Amino acid sequence: MPKLWSSGFGEDTDALVDELNASISFDKRLYREDIAGSAAHAEMLARQGIIERSEADAIIAGLGAILADIEAGRFEFRQSDEDIHMAIEAELTRRVGKPGKRLHTARSRNDQIALDFRLYLKKEISKIRHMLLSLLETLCGIAENNLDAVMPAYTHLQRAQPSTLAHYMMAYANMLRRDVTRLEDCAERMDFSPLGSGALAGTTYPIDREMTARELGFSGITENSLDGVSDRDYAIELLSALSILMTHLSRFSEEIILWCSWEFRFIELSDSFSTGSSIMPQKKNPDVAELVRGKTGRVYGALVALLTVMKALPLAYNKDMQEDKEQVFDAVDTVKKCLPVFTAMLATAAIRRDNMRAAAAEGFINATDCADYLTRRGMPFRDAYAITGRLVKLCAGEKLTLETLPLARYRELSELFESDVYDAIRLETCVRERRSAGGPAPESVRVQIESVRRFMEEHNDARI
Ligand code: ARG
Repeated sequence: MPKLWSSGFGEDTDALVDELNASISFDKRLYREDIAGSAAHAEMLARQGIIERSEADAIIAGLGAILADIEAGRFEFRQSDEDIHMAIEAELTRRVGKPGKRLHTARSRNDQIALDFRLYLKKEISKIRHMLLSLLETLCGIAENNLDAVMPAYTHLQRAQPSTLAHYMMAYANMLRRDVTRLEDCAERMDFSPLGSGALAGTTYPIDREMTARELGFSGITENSLDGVSDRDYAIELLSALSILMTHLSRFSEEIILWCSWEFRFIELSDSFSTGSSIMPQKKNPDVAELVRGKTGRVYGALVALLTVMKALPLAYNKDMQEDKEQVFDAVDTVKKCLPVFTAMLATAAIRRDNMRAAAAEGFINATDCADYLTRRGMPFRDAYAITGRLVKLCAGEKLTLETLPLARYRELSELFESDVYDAIRLETCVRERRSAGGPAPESVRVQIESVRRFMEEHNDARI
């Protein structure tokens, strides 16, 4: 196939090479960014007197018409065009003739792809941020309605201490809030235009990089042309932020799956967010949560793949780098697919507060509170811990709980126990008294919700 770049070549490339080499099948999704970049470049070339005004006008009008055709589904992407940059440039030249051939002055596909990818990912980050904000909204809503919904919290998956569903939701809200800021940090570092880096060594033409950067909405320009075309940190960083985000969704999914089991029955997913079994009529499966947990692997895979692609590449551009796009696109698509369905699944789930309360009432999760009771009466914590341990053992042997053990039995182990011990170890008391900052007491959780809501207000703009 003859190519735009084949000036010094004696023979056409082999069809097998064409197939391996072409990226058009996946980089065609960058058409908007590619066209915007080309229009800004043409405008700058004219303003700097590098091409004629009339040529720039023809280029910009031609690009606009191509954009309209692509959006209307009237544009045919061909493998022979190799990539999105050549597809659009070739079509432009077909349409407007000579000015089209001037567009590539002072530019290379190396800075073009670096530009397109950054422009595209900036927009995708913004979409993901907003999806995260609506998940945060859902979490705050569930928390507000469940401030006093006592449930056991676990360590080693053993019932450990009393918490509430609200406290639990806000734990995830805090993780996801950090994900929002990680994405914002990433977008901020990505926000520099590489356009004008050329192939790697800039250009002898008097270009104005600041102008194209401004025009395209960047906060500045990349400061070194070699780095400008070689850098894929921004994509790696995004994949890393997305991987951490998926870790959070995956842990959350795991809990939802457990909570849906008959062993827990803390929540019940709505029918529209569950699936049935083709053979077992009694089954209601949490497929959405399982798929989110499963898809986390794809996103991690993309991160490791891109790190591996980049790890030994000498400066500047190498064709290996074309492998970045499918990985990043897949990770971004995956996260965008998971977040809204996860949010909706959570928003429509029924909470079984009675089952949570019942699970909290078993398993001696108020044992720490019993020890604290003795400590408040002057006993050193370690002694109080030992006595409570003996009480728990005693209860377990007689199928009693700390709530049902008679006072006389308490007093056999310590005279410090009075009848008010029962109030001290009531689950509601245990939760209410844990009002230290960050704790599960409704008043502490209310502070946590307010803080996340304030964050949402401050970050709910289109800044980045
Ligand atoms: N399709 C290429 C990519 O995605 C664009 C850059 C090509 N540059 C080159 N020198 N072959 O990486």
